[in-house]
Amino acid sequence: QRFAERAEQMQEKNSETLYALRKEFLDRKDGLVSGLMKQMKSVPSAEKADFGKEVNALKDWVLEKLTALEKQAREAELNHRYETEKIDVTLPGTEIPRGNLHPDTLVRNQMIEAFAGMGFEIYEGAEIETDYYNFTALNTPKDHPARDMQDTFYLSDKFLLRTQTSAGQIHVMEKQKPPIKILSPGKVFRSDDDATHSPMFTQMEGLVVDKGITLCDLQGMLDKFVEKFFGAGVKTRLRPSYFPFTEPSVEVDVSCFSCGGKGCRLCKGTGWIEILGAGVVNKKVLENCGIDSDVYSGFAFGIGIERVAMLKYGIGNIKYLFESDLRVLRQINA
Ligand code: PHE
Repeated sequence: QRFAERAEQMQEKNSETLYALRKEFLDRKDGLVSGLMKQMKSVPSAEKADFGKEVNALKDWVLEKLTALEKQAREAELNHRYETEKIDVTLPGTEIPRGNLHPDTLVRNQMIEAFAGMGFEIYEGAEIETDYYNFTALNTPKDHPARDMQDTFYLSDKFLLRTQTSAGQIHVMEKQKPPIKILSPGKVFRSDDDATHSPMFTQMEGLVVDKGITLCDLQGMLDKFVEKFFGAGVKTRLRPSYFPFTEPSVEVDVSCFSCGGKGCRLCKGTGWIEILGAGVVNKKVLENCGIDSDVYSGFAFGIGIERVAMLKYGIGNIKYLFESDLRVLRQINA
């Protein structure tokens, strides 16, 4: 009777209050029903059996009632959740604006991907360098005319902003002995400013040093790269050039990926587009890094990432790449 009263009185029958009720009556240690069981000792032996039966019946009854109430409560709670957590699938969604990769990042990733599988490691050098790493160790002494090719931002008489990712070559060769195979993307800085030049731009350097490396290896690898990056059928052409840190030096053209080499506006009718500088690593550079140039040889190349991005996506002015104008950047979303 007491249980029925208590259950009746309960204002809110939810799983929490019902659990408390269950404890109050049925708890093994100090529940009210268990308490009755403990009184068994003081019951005269003749009545023990009847008393036990009755207490057990009471226990079953309480349990049954309680279980029914609990079931009810669970159902009510579930229904409540169905009501309040209802989703209207016919409502129009809120569009979440999505960004896209910057063309520079896109092209850099594509380049790394095109070289993937050839065993290159990525090395990211520092943007602040000393004259030694940016020039001297790269066989470009103080009075060398090649320094005029790259107008340098000096930070002090000791430090400068690197004008080329080639500076990283020296760090790598000082630390690591051949075989060496690295790709080094990063920002470089030159006091240059027009439609195709920006004071800050990015390059991707490649360096391979091992026994028996020749210009043929460079050409073979570039052919593979160009096919993967620009598309099947695109060919390379090497023209003699000059860099103090490579000997021989070459400038590499690709057959125009826009007109297929017939001649168009992009390649200015020539059928070829210049994309990078490269060459066989100058023996003096190897020696500057403590690598025996009688045993080892290598090749290096440097690609301007913005230049390639401009060609590939038809961007007319390098400034578009640095102005963060979303109308421009959203168009280049390969
Ligand atoms: N560092 C050269 C440049 O900035 C490119 C280059 C890299 C040339 C490696 C040859 C070898 O123009």
